[in-house]
Parts: sequence; C-alpha cells; structure tokens
Amino acid sequence: MKNTQKSWFSLIFTLLTSSSICLAQQHQVKMKSTELTTNMNSTGVFSYQLKYKDKPVLLNSSIGFELSKPNVLLNRFDVIKIDSSSVDQFWVPVWGEQDSIRNHYKELVYHLRDKGSSKIEINLIFRVFEDGIGFRYAFPKQEALDYFIVQNELTEFNLGKDHTAFWIPGDFDTNEYLYNTTKLSEVDALKAAAKEKDIAVTSLVNDHTIQSPLMLKTEDELYINIHEAALLNYPAMHLDLNKKTFKLSTVLVPDAVGNKAYLQTGAVTPWRTIIISDKATEVIASKTILNLNEPTKLEQTDWIKPQKFMGVWWEMHINKADWKLSSGKHGARTENVKKYIDFASKHQFDGVLVEGWNEGWEDWFGNWKEDVFDFVTPYKDYNINELSNYAKSKGIKLIMHHETSGAVTNYERWMDTAYRFMLAHDINTVKTGYVGKIIPRGEHHDGQWMVNHYTRVAKKTSDYKIMVAAHEPVHPTGLHRTFPNWLANEAARGAEFNNAPTLGIPPEHNTILPFTRLMGGPMDYTPGLFHFELNQFDSTRTQRVLSTLTKQLALYLIMYSPLQMAADLPENYEAHMDAFQFIKNVPVNWSASKVLEAEPGEFITIARKKKNSKDWYLGSITDEKARQLVINLDFLELGERYIARIYRDGKSASFDKNQTDYIIEEKMVNSKNTLTIPVAKGGGTAIEFIHKSN
Ligand code: NOJ
Ligand code: CA
Repeated sequence: MKNTQKSWFSLIFTLLTSSSICLAQQHQVKMKSTELTTNMNSTGVFSYQLKYKDKPVLLNSSIGFELSKPNVLLNRFDVIKIDSSSVDQFWVPVWGEQDSIRNHYKELVYHLRDKGSSKIEINLIFRVFEDGIGFRYAFPKQEALDYFIVQNELTEFNLGKDHTAFWIPGDFDTNEYLYNTTKLSEVDALKAAAKEKDIAVTSLVNDHTIQSPLMLKTEDELYINIHEAALLNYPAMHLDLNKKTFKLSTVLVPDAVGNKAYLQTGAVTPWRTIIISDKATEVIASKTILNLNEPTKLEQTDWIKPQKFMGVWWEMHINKADWKLSSGKHGARTENVKKYIDFASKHQFDGVLVEGWNEGWEDWFGNWKEDVFDFVTPYKDYNINELSNYAKSKGIKLIMHHETSGAVTNYERWMDTAYRFMLAHDINTVKTGYVGKIIPRGEHHDGQWMVNHYTRVAKKTSDYKIMVAAHEPVHPTGLHRTFPNWLANEAARGAEFNNAPTLGIPPEHNTILPFTRLMGGPMDYTPGLFHFELNQFDSTRTQRVLSTLTKQLALYLIMYSPLQMAADLPENYEAHMDAFQFIKNVPVNWSASKVLEAEPGEFITIARKKKNSKDWYLGSITDEKARQLVINLDFLELGERYIARIYRDGKSASFDKNQTDYIIEEKMVNSKNTLTIPVAKGGGTAIEFIHKSN
C-alpha cells in the first residue's frame, strides 16, 4: 500500500487563498465561534487576544524572545507585512481514530522586525481553527541573524481569571504525576509534588510552574486546553503561573549550561496551541494539534501496524519475577516467554513484549552509569534465536525492550546495531525507556537535546521499518502524524503506577488524562488488569488496582492508542475468560470515533467504529462516584440491528472492593434505542455492538 496521505491530497478539494493585507493596528480573524484579535501598540508591543462565542478566553497576551547570542531582547517590533490565507482539506491518517481528518483554518502571518538596533526579523504565524488557535514563530534567513541561542521565549497566555485547573507540577524530567484539580489561585506545585514518593527522577521548577497540556474550566462553562504542537529541535514548554493576575508565561526547559535552544535561521518553533469549546467532548475530539503537524514524508507505510500485545512485564512489577538474572526468579526465561507466546497466539494477539531479556539489569538504575546495556546481549537463559523462531511459528511477533536507563549517549552509540539485531530476529516494534537521570549529564528529559533524541529514534526506526513506543519521554505533541511509526508514548502516569505504594491511580485520573496527556497523542497506558490485590506474589504489598474489572475494559476505548497491551498475567485472565473476550475482540484502529459525553475529573463515554465494519464499541468510565449511564444509540446506522454485548459492573462492585463483580449481558438494539446502565464507584462499562446482517 502506498502512503494514502499523499494520494488523498490530489483528490481532495483544497481551498487555498492568499493575500497581503494592510498594516492596520488591529486584526480580527474569526472561524465560527473562535475569534483572534491581534494588536500592535504605539511602542511596538505586539499582543493577541482570544474569544469564544464572545466570551473572553485570553486577554491581551504578548509575545517575544530573549536571545543570549546575540544578546538581544525582541519584544518591540515594526510590522513589515501581513499575509493571510486559508486552507480547507481532508487527509487520511495511516492509523487513528477516524478514516479522514479535516484541516480547516485561516492563517495570518505577521512579518515583524525588531524596533531596536538588531533589525532581526521574526515571522509570527497564527492559524485560527473552529476549535482554537495555533501560533508559532519562524526565524527566516536574513542578514541580521544566523546562529543564535534562545534564552527565553516571552509568549504569554493571559487567562485573567481564576479558572479551575487540571494540572501537574512543572518538572523538567517527568510527567508521571497525579493530576491536581484546584483553582489557579490554589496551585502549589511543590506541595503537590511533596505527596509523590514513587517517581524515579524529578526536577521541579518552583511552586507556581505547571505543565502543559493544561486543562482549564471557566466559571462561564468554557473548556480551554493549552499545549504545543510539533515539538521539534526545541525544548518543551512549561507554564509559569502568576497567581494574582492568572497570566501564564512560557518556561522553556534548560540544557546543562542553562541555555534553552540552539537554532539557526530558517528555524521554526513548535506551535503554541489553545483549544476551546463550550462542550468538553469537543476538546477530547479536537484534531487541531494533529493538524498543526506536518504530513509524513514516508512513501511506504504498509509495514506500520496497529497492534495488541501481551508481555513478560507485570509479573516483574508485582514481584512474581524480576528483570535481573541474579534475582533467582528471572522473568525473561525461554520457557516462560514461550508460555506467553502460546497464550497470546491462542487468543490472536499480535505481539509479546519481553523485558529483562538483556544483560545489564543488575546495576541498571541509580548510579548515573553510562554503559549500562548494549541492547544485543541476551541473558544466558533467554534463547532469542529459539524464541524468534517459536514466535514466528505461532504467528506472534516478539516486541523488543530498550531500557536506556537515561544513558542516552550509550543508546545513541548502539541504536543502529540494536535495530539490525532486532530485524535479524524478526522483531519490528521496540519499547524504549528513559528511567533515570539523563546522560549527557545535566540534560533533562524535556530539553532540546532529548527532544532531538526522541525524534532521531523515530526517524532511525522508520529507516529500519521499526515501530516505536517510548516510556518516560517528553510530552507528545501530535508528531505521530509526521512519524506514524512512532505509535505511542507513556509520558504520564500509566497503569504501572497501580503498583506504586504512595498514591497509585485513583479513579478520576483516567477521566483527566484524555483532556491532558492524550491531547498530544496516543498513550501506552497498558490497561487490562484483572487481579486487583497486588499481594498475589508478595504478601508485603498493600497496593490495589483502584478500578473495577469492567472499567479496565472500558479503558481500551477511553485511552486511545494504536498499540494496546493486555497487561495482566495469563493466569489472571484465565480466571475471567468471559470478560477477557472483550480484550480479544476490541480493535486498535478505527474508522470513526464519537465522544458522547465527558467532564474532566468526572466521566467520559466514547464510541468508536471498527475499520471496514459496521460494528461499534463503546467505553464509559466514572470517577469515584457511581452514576447511571444513559446512552442514546443514534450513532448506530439507522435501520440496522445490532447485538449489544454489555460488560458492566455488578451490584456490589466498586473500585476498592468486589472489583470482579461484573455482569455480561446481551440485548438486541437499534439506533432508536437508549441504554441505561449503572456504573459503580470507580467503575466502567464496555459494550460491543455487533452488526446483524439481515
Ligand atoms: C518504566 C516503564 O514505564 C515500565 O513499563 C518498565 O517496565 C520499567 N520502566 C523498566 O524498564
Ligand atoms: Ca514509566
């Protein structure tokens, strides 16, 4: 199959107009309810404002840069020229939540020149969509500037009011925090972080710096999301909050010597994105961040496959086994992996991940050691040749694990060799990991150097036709449009934290993630835990999975990803094979998706249509409050009949007791019906709508 993104372009109706407009002081661009106003005052300060349905979203917010080489403050400008254009086109993603995506915006480009003596030129590019805006800076080739260092980006988001915020502490090395829901005036990032005891490496900023994607709800019922798109060759953006004025300012992640970005003219920054709606469902459904990313340049994409996998993984986290050979209970043993392959094959999975397969786990963490793993030397009880042959004979692909332990210089040296080793063993998906302090020492997970590393991995793996999912990377920004082999990322608190002793995963976390972390792209969340007391193999453990069993099923719809794991052990699935059937059946690629209802921190219900099929799937989750789910089935095809196979919480189920009390029932339904289903505290519902041909 040829890359469909390209061929589609030649077929679609593309509206593209372009013109230069007059240099008035103020400009307004409106797309349905979203209205951008730009303003240049008499001293050359440029600012922008945003409204949605005439309600203020951002008050006057200014822009600019502080460069350290040359040493220039760029915050007063003359306007040289303003261009405007508009685009309306559809494109087809290689995989995703829907068959095609509309990219519809008006663009306004300000060509600005420093009012001071430097005469440096910057272009400020705004794109206004129906559900928000994106804007970025471009540094064109010019006489006045060649190489330069960014000391600070002066972009502001002036909220002006004390909204409710869904936030995690600003931190240059991790995004694995639990979300906090407070008024902006109540944000205390250090206090929130002090509750966290289970994150490996942290680099907090101060008490009032928080991370993007930041989700906000205003008193007049607007939902606002602030993030970035196309984060390439630049550090990640965090947000400094002024708790008196409610103005957010950009904080760029520093490098080892305190600089932010090393650029040469011809460069662009990532897009700053503000998604707005008066319906929470529309924020989750927004494709604006994806649209702001470049189409893929890959000609051939048929080797990129959404997939479902199992793994020799959770048994290490819950102490049945260990990554280390010297532990005496090594998980990645040939015969143990075979058991997983057998089970995965019997139940039609695509892959089996194996962690702890390679030498180096004895001292992999905590020493800031550089040459930890070589990524090609299996432990002596792991027969990789035998296993790749065995997997092949069973129709399963092994999934490679490259834990770098943060020693990224070492990984960079091994990458080509490691990818060749994978292909030699018929392995074409790799889970990378960055637990630990970064080497080069002094660099952060979210700085420009690491952003370039993640991108290098995405490009290099695609040269080898390898798919990748990164754990502990920078927050995603929609780059899966450009690099569709970069299937997913962790980059937030995922299911492994069910086993973290301090806070775990309280029910509302999953109702916030789609509004925050998932705005940037798919998450390798690893749902599907069926055993809730985590002392199964280690009696000292008191942790529990704070979820009902059917909520674990619903997560396959709520936590969208083209790469989905069934995270639990085969024996734990064997105890509930009727419910496991849903994990077997649920697709990982969709032709349509509908967010039916959502409220951050409370509940989310999403229906998705299987590719090339009339079948639909639905997932619904709630926070720690029980609720009655009432779903109008009008998303089903009119006049068609479906069997609704409903997996729902039983009467006594709750996230903290009787989690495995569930009911599976079937009903004949059509698009005119409504289903009413009780959802337990911290529970969820999963439904398959199987089309009945007449
Ligand atoms: C953290 C990852 O998120 C987890 O999935 C993995 O098992 C461990 N690191 C070990 O690499
Ligand atoms: Ca992790």
